[in-house]
Amino acid sequence: MLSSLLIAGLGLATTVSSSCTLPLLKSTTFSLLAAQSKGSSSTITALSSPNIVYTEQFNPASITTGILSKGLNIRHSRSFHDPVLCTTFTEIIVTDPSHPYVIGTRMEVDPGTEKISKIESLVSDEGDWLFNATGYAYYNSLEKWEVIPESERDSRETIQAAGDAYFNRFANASFLVPWGTPCARLEGGAYTGGRNLSANTCDLGLPSTIKVVDRRYVVDQEMGSVVIYVGFPGLDRASPEPGPDSHLFRVEKGKLRYIHTISTCEGHPGCGLDGTGIPGRKMLL
Ligand SMILES: *[C@@H]1O[C@H](CO)[C@@H](O)[C@H](O)[C@H]1NC(C)=O
Ligand SMILES: *[C@@H]1O[C@H](CO)[C@@H](O)[C@H](O)[C@H]1NC(C)=O
Ligand SMILES: *[C@@H]1O[C@H](CO)[C@@H](O)[C@H](O)[C@H]1NC(C)=O
Repeated sequence: MLSSLLIAGLGLATTVSSSCTLPLLKSTTFSLLAAQSKGSSSTITALSSPNIVYTEQFNPASITTGILSKGLNIRHSRSFHDPVLCTTFTEIIVTDPSHPYVIGTRMEVDPGTEKISKIESLVSDEGDWLFNATGYAYYNSLEKWEVIPESERDSRETIQAAGDAYFNRFANASFLVPWGTPCARLEGGAYTGGRNLSANTCDLGLPSTIKVVDRRYVVDQEMGSVVIYVGFPGLDRASPEPGPDSHLFRVEKGKLRYIHTISTCEGHPGCGLDGTGIPGRKMLL
């Protein structure tokens, strides 16, 4: 595993051997969705290593009392699989008026034991960054996320570089981001593409002094996508910690086509943008 990553990183080989197959990863995300719709966390525990790392909002949490213990009526889901890093990501939208959610779940599977070794879920709901599950579901439904035909697939490196460029740009205004036209960003429930679906509305100006930290990846060539989990300093105006954040990038012919973000506010509801948050002070929701 380590050597195949090094080889991939150096771009020396195109054939990378891995014991982490797509069917294994796809059955793991299938089980995740089955478990989530039933609220049956034991389904996932049975597929996990005994010493699994489980987090929600990047904080240690309990798999048996966390979101997987709640049966959710899933309106939409989409999964991504990375056979080289042995990771997956699943996007889940729940518009049930009793409790709407937008959930992102990243899993790591141990290629030796084929058991899940880590699950990090971002469970966003009311009070989180621009949260609106109805909006998320609606704008998502306008988008096309088909499997990319084999002859048109970008390399892993190209896909990952497009997502990395977006975050590198947050710390460096000269860094070039391969924006596509069209491109649209869906953030919490707010859509940049709402007014013009054929325009590039991703490049609407970004800050240039933010260093996102701790990038964790899922690269899916079939879906032309990279998911990057990061700690996002300053996102939560009411918390001094980097905010828990996931960005899903759809890349077509090397260019960014769609961006879906999930960010949770660990300080004050609305990440301190409702006028009552005190920057630098941690408050519990
Ligand atoms: C959420 O999004 C829907 C669909 O775009 C919109 O009709 C609704 O007004 C939004 N709700 C809020 C609170 O912004
Ligand atoms: C910013 O990005 C440009 C373009 O990629 C690069 O030449 C420059 O070295 C970067 N600056 C820093 C401080 O990383
Ligand atoms: C939408 O964006 C496209 C591409 O930038 C542009 O050609 C077109 O005029 C825009 N349409 C409207 C109604 O603004």
